[in-house]
Amino acid sequence: MPTSDSTAPRVVSARPEMTARLMAETGLDEDILTALVHRFYAKVRADDLLSPVFAARIRDWGPHLDRMVAFWSSVALMTGRYHGAPVPAHAALPVTWDHFDRWLALFRATAAEVCPGPGAAHVIAAAERIARSLHMAVQDAQACPHAAPALR
Ligand code: HEM
Repeated sequence: MPTSDSTAPRVVSARPEMTARLMAETGLDEDILTALVHRFYAKVRADDLLSPVFAARIRDWGPHLDRMVAFWSSVALMTGRYHGAPVPAHAALPVTWDHFDRWLALFRATAAEVCPGPGAAHVIAAAERIARSLHMAVQDAQACPHAAPALR
């Protein structure tokens, strides 16, 4: 007979206990993260500074949005759903801190709209940390375009 465990997360996770704990602490789940990602990129695509950078690289938004939901699921709930390499994807982008600053402003606003308070704080702290790392990788690549990125 199947057992039911009320603490089990309703998402597929490589670390089910940790995911269940993070879901309980933050109030986040896959539906909220999907809404966060879709609403955030709608704002990005309407933004005068950011939209040209994305438009030059992303033709088909469906796979990008799916990848970004998997990314936020991995970052916020430790599900292990994302298997990519963000640093090389950003190192050669024509961006400065102004772009990251705008990205973060839109992300904070969207998180506040979509996530419960503790969940918004959780994803915003992660976004700020990752934005700083990506910006360092961009600066490294701009200073020394033929070197391998310092951060992976
Ligand atoms: C200046 C701000 C940013 C810009 C303009 C930007 C732009 C982009 C673009 C154009 C791509 C698609 C790359 C490609 O497929 O060729 C991408 C991918 C991605 N971005 Fe950003 N991004 C920014 C900041 C961030 C931040 C702060 C995060 C994380 C908190 C992030 C996470 C990702 C991830 C996970 C991918 C998918 C990488 C992969 O697996 O291929 N980005 N971004």
